[in-house]
Amino acid sequence: MHRPSRRSFLGLGGSALALAFTTNLADPWTAQAAVKGDYPFRLGVASGDPLPDRVILWTRLAADPLQPLGGLPFAKLKVEWEIAEDEGFTRRARHGSAWARPEYGHSVHIDAKGLEPGREYFYRFRSGGEISPTGRTKTAPAPGSSPDSLRLAFASCASWPDGYYTAYRHLADENPDVVFHLGDYLYEYGIRPTGGNRNIPVPEQYRVQCDTLDRYRIQYGLYKSDPDLQAAHHRAPWIVTWDDHEVLDNWASQHGPGGDVTEQDYLVIRANAFRAFWENMPVRVPPVEGPDARIYRRFTFGDLAEFNVLDTRQYRDDQVCGDGQRIGCEERLDPARQMLGAEQETWLLDGLAASPAKWNVLAQQIAMIQLDFDPGPAQQLSMDLWDGYEAAKDRVVNGMVDRQVSNPVVLTGDIHYNLAGELKQNFDEPSSRTVGVEFVCTSITSGGNGNPDTGLPPGGSDPVNPHLRFSSYQRGYVSCEVTRDQWRADYKVIPYVDRPGAPVSTRASLVTLDGAPGLNAL
Ligand SMILES: [Fe+2]
Repeated sequence: MHRPSRRSFLGLGGSALALAFTTNLADPWTAQAAVKGDYPFRLGVASGDPLPDRVILWTRLAADPLQPLGGLPFAKLKVEWEIAEDEGFTRRARHGSAWARPEYGHSVHIDAKGLEPGREYFYRFRSGGEISPTGRTKTAPAPGSSPDSLRLAFASCASWPDGYYTAYRHLADENPDVVFHLGDYLYEYGIRPTGGNRNIPVPEQYRVQCDTLDRYRIQYGLYKSDPDLQAAHHRAPWIVTWDDHEVLDNWASQHGPGGDVTEQDYLVIRANAFRAFWENMPVRVPPVEGPDARIYRRFTFGDLAEFNVLDTRQYRDDQVCGDGQRIGCEERLDPARQMLGAEQETWLLDGLAASPAKWNVLAQQIAMIQLDFDPGPAQQLSMDLWDGYEAAKDRVVNGMVDRQVSNPVVLTGDIHYNLAGELKQNFDEPSSRTVGVEFVCTSITSGGNGNPDTGLPPGGSDPVNPHLRFSSYQRGYVSCEVTRDQWRADYKVIPYVDRPGAPVSTRASLVTLDGAPGLNAL
């Protein structure tokens, strides 16, 4: 576990840095004798949702991350923050103070405004006489500007007991301009005493599946204690959305898991899950109260790229034909079925029509290209993916054609495979129009080391899925360089997650060209 001490901070020349903050003798933290001297930044810091003039700065105070309130008293604690142009904090741009409130799990979300566009910044917090690690962040380019390039990484699916977060560490080392996390940042499942592949003892309160707010809180506490995950947050702003496991496996709209969980129980669990997500993520959304929360939102990077961050879980109709992979399920074709819900779908298509950007991105959860998992003539599709919501998929794909959307790119997680494919107007007709491309990232850890014999559709020469150009089962993330001429996706993989220190390599590089939808392997 990552336990930087005050001594190690001062060893980095911190006494001068500490003076950059004003001393406040009335600091409520200092008044709490029970916690005085405890290092409160054991969950690290994070930034997110960058706009041209502002970015969210996040931390959550915890002296003991495995306790529901982080081992802190049920009292508000004062936090000071600052953001500067340099890592030494000599050119401070903005600063202030805020309360870390117990009813927010002692999290703070600072919307640091008045920043310059397209610029790197450094930020940190202070509380109880302690100073947080320093985070690096970057604002979005100015509206109407024409950036030459954008470097981003995207990732998903990071089950803590399934392995070490080595892939997050390699992602951090790339210093991207922005990171997109497409969900399954956390899994709701109970954790075995041995901590799964990590072989770290995990306390008794982790055995049961998440349901109460306190249980979700300690799950985030465990996850966010990881130094590799913290490193990835410390190097770049993140834009996050959720998938199913931030709540419950394959949850859909108002439909709970059944069994002995009543619909009312389910809505309470969902509210707790949403609340814990909000407390722990650097997002610019209001504090979540209850089982409904709007997290779909849009980010514009000059005229280069616009990102529509979607929520494909909260408004969808229930999975048909009992969920899972099915052959011959006609109900999936029902035109009334919703994936995004009418409101989000209209928001998406209106936004795409009005976009100034060369590259128009859907940053979302589940595979949109058709994936036939049967190697023979039968068509076996997953009812949880866009294939289970065929009419909703058609409305989005045809909606992009009708609106002449420039260069559609879909970024996807969820499935624990690397995939790259061409988005077809009709997947059953290979000669039909190619509308855009989809890049699917594998998991950070979920599923352990991975296995080549998992029923994964082969990429490149698969007669069953001719639009699929690449697939691989290894763990990792995808690193992208977006320029005015092309979007390049490098699939970064590691050979194992069940022990630390795996090296990273590029498994494949695929490129799509401006104005020429389709994929080319490098
Ligand atoms: Fe997952």
